[in-house]
Amino acid sequence: MANGFESFVLNTGAKIPSLGLGTWQADPGLVGQAIAAAVKIGYRHIDCAQIYGNEKEIGVALKNLFEEGVVKREELFITSKLWCKDHAPEDVPKALNRTLSDLQLDYVDLYLIHWPVRLKKESSTLSCENLIPTDIPSTWRALEALFDSGKARAIGVSNFSTKKLGDLLEIARIPPAVNQVECHPSWQQNKLREFCKSKGVHLSGYSPLGSPSSLKSDILKHPILNLVAKELGKTPAQVALRWGIQMGQSVLPKSTNEGRIRENFEVFDWSIPDELFTKFSEIEQARLLKGASFVHETLSEYKTLEELWDGEI
Ligand code: A2P
Repeated sequence: MANGFESFVLNTGAKIPSLGLGTWQADPGLVGQAIAAAVKIGYRHIDCAQIYGNEKEIGVALKNLFEEGVVKREELFITSKLWCKDHAPEDVPKALNRTLSDLQLDYVDLYLIHWPVRLKKESSTLSCENLIPTDIPSTWRALEALFDSGKARAIGVSNFSTKKLGDLLEIARIPPAVNQVECHPSWQQNKLREFCKSKGVHLSGYSPLGSPSSLKSDILKHPILNLVAKELGKTPAQVALRWGIQMGQSVLPKSTNEGRIRENFEVFDWSIPDELFTKFSEIEQARLLKGASFVHETLSEYKTLEELWDGEI
């Protein structure tokens, strides 16, 4: 039974489903079947990015789902992201065209600047020598043109601090619809969430389970999460996701395992009651994905992590 948390409304008027399938580190060879399983289970939101290296396989899976009549394009919400070496305004439409061609789509529902970080156009690695200063206003103008063209039905950013989002809002003709950031019970983003709310920017949470294998976190083992899970007869992962949705953010759990894809979707016919919900404020906070490769004393515009995140670290 649904209970009103299935989607949120963006500042464009479009609805974003509150649960999306994450595809970071969803390996080629596995991601296609994960997409097919997820859509058949009921997922209507898929979070992609060019740098994940799996958009071609996702495109094939989507094409099959459309051809089989499982779902229609307009029923899906598909996000992709502009990689750091494509920030030059003339490269932005080319990057989206590559993504659209790989995904076999005419438009994405949301296109995000992946990081407030710029790499040289020809760079193939993330090393500091390849960093060059960002010019977010000029990159944003190019995203606004994609919005005008209809190829990106909403535009936004990812990994932006409150300050960087505020600076963008100052110059934007079309305000960002979304800021997609790390968000889970152990990195709750309260300051950023309040700011987003006050400006009508939707906060979307990546690593909502704390990326247990890639970021080596043990959030799902946290005693508070386990206590709440036990009380409600749910799994810690379901509790983490339901917490995010009740906080008002969309959540993007990655899985390529059908059982866990299904488990993660079963978060709509129950809720965390107030007396348990308040316990989440006791959880100690730590950012997991620090972006240290974007920071360098001389080669980066961000000399320290403090500067990259404007103190939100
Ligand atoms: P797998 O793909 O094998 O299911 P996040 O979305 O926070 O980045 O976390 C993704 C990681 O969490 C992946 O390693 C994924 O592994 C694992 N995962 C996904 N769903 C669950 C779940 N319900 N319980 C435990 N681990 C999960």
